[in-house]
Amino acid sequence: MPRRVLITGGAGFIGSHTALVLLEQGYELVVLDNFDNSSPEALERVKELTGSNSLDFVEGDVRDLDAVNRAFDCGGPIDGVIHFAGLKAVGESVADPLRYWDVNLNGSRVLAAAMEQHQCRTLVFSSTSTVYGEPEVFPLHEQMPTAPVHPYAQTKCAVEQMLGALCRSRDWRVACLRYFNPVGAHPSGRIGEDPLGIPNNLFPFITQVASGRRDKLRIFGQDYPTHDGTGIRDYLHVMDLAEAHSVTLGHLFQATAPHQLTLNIGTGYGLSVLDVVHGFEQATGLPIAYEFVERRPGDVPKLEGCPQKAKDILGWSAQRDLAQMCRDGWAWQQANPMGYRTNP
Ligand code: NAD
Ligand code: UFG
Repeated sequence: MPRRVLITGGAGFIGSHTALVLLEQGYELVVLDNFDNSSPEALERVKELTGSNSLDFVEGDVRDLDAVNRAFDCGGPIDGVIHFAGLKAVGESVADPLRYWDVNLNGSRVLAAAMEQHQCRTLVFSSTSTVYGEPEVFPLHEQMPTAPVHPYAQTKCAVEQMLGALCRSRDWRVACLRYFNPVGAHPSGRIGEDPLGIPNNLFPFITQVASGRRDKLRIFGQDYPTHDGTGIRDYLHVMDLAEAHSVTLGHLFQATAPHQLTLNIGTGYGLSVLDVVHGFEQATGLPIAYEFVERRPGDVPKLEGCPQKAKDILGWSAQRDLAQMCRDGWAWQQANPMGYRTNP
């Protein structure tokens, strides 16, 4: 019998790529999403790319217990859950912290309660490298203290703690994946990142400058203590991240004892904003106009983690380089200049 997995937020950027990988591996899926930041078209394209019909869909909010129960009841029993549904913009979380605590923490609490009701206690949770705060020692290891500096990261830390308590009190198997910066798209160019309005994140901003939708990139800060003064992050291909979810889930399904696993998911190599801009120019042959502006509030100079624990435990490591992230991200942008919205 194929395993059946609930994916909350499965229509989003990382969720849609993960759904594709899991369908290709023969899983049955049910996606719960309220389309707060995504489009149903993403799921149609996942079906089209995989040729699979093993994808059920429930439109609803993860904070709504009835909606989550509908997802649990819409087919056979759910063996495990991947919880992507949440909000992710750092600046927005500073401006509207209650919304972040509600969606990210309360949503996770309601989901966990539904999982308890259905005796489904296997969960992969989307955490973030921003839980490390503003670290000074690199690379970051999972056992280092967390010190979140904005509400977004604080909500993710709180959920990690809530899940830790569940693992200690009951028979749960939980993996908290602390992602670094996922970018790029499926190589088909059919699914990708589709931010609403002006992109918050570097990579979609660059691809929109390349396509002429924005006139220039604004680089936030040129006086950071880094090799060229711009901020450093660990960018990883979204397909590598999607594959990390499938191996994590396989690992949890094999686990014989309850436990909480916390893993950095990145390449281990940090790149500055200018490194990414120049890498994109080289990979695509397209010039990216930019200007330097003030630092963005909440940004830290550098985040760079060690992914060795994921390699040791899961056998997973990132396989795709920056050139491939740029080529695939650009192919998606070129084929879908307005994202999913205006395309058939
Ligand atoms: P995304 O916005 O593309 O996907 C999130 C999905 O969740 C969307 O489809 C959205 O419609 C859905 N959603 C939001 N609120 C919901 C709610 N209340 N009920 C049901 N569905 C809801 O974001 P993403 O980049 O795919 O991120 C997925 C997860 O990974 C998030 O939890 C995010 O915090 C985390 N994460 C993302 C990054 C990143 O750089 N993209 C890095 C670290 C962690
Ligand atoms: N940047 C610019 N100009 C832009 C956008 C970003 O210079 O228009 C810079 C930022 O200052 C930073 C770097 O590019 O130095 C990366 O910024 P992003 O906004 O792309 O990513 P963040 O590292 O700030 O945050 C992202 C997600 C979070 C997630 C985190 C994980 O938004 O949800 O990665 O590391 F938790």
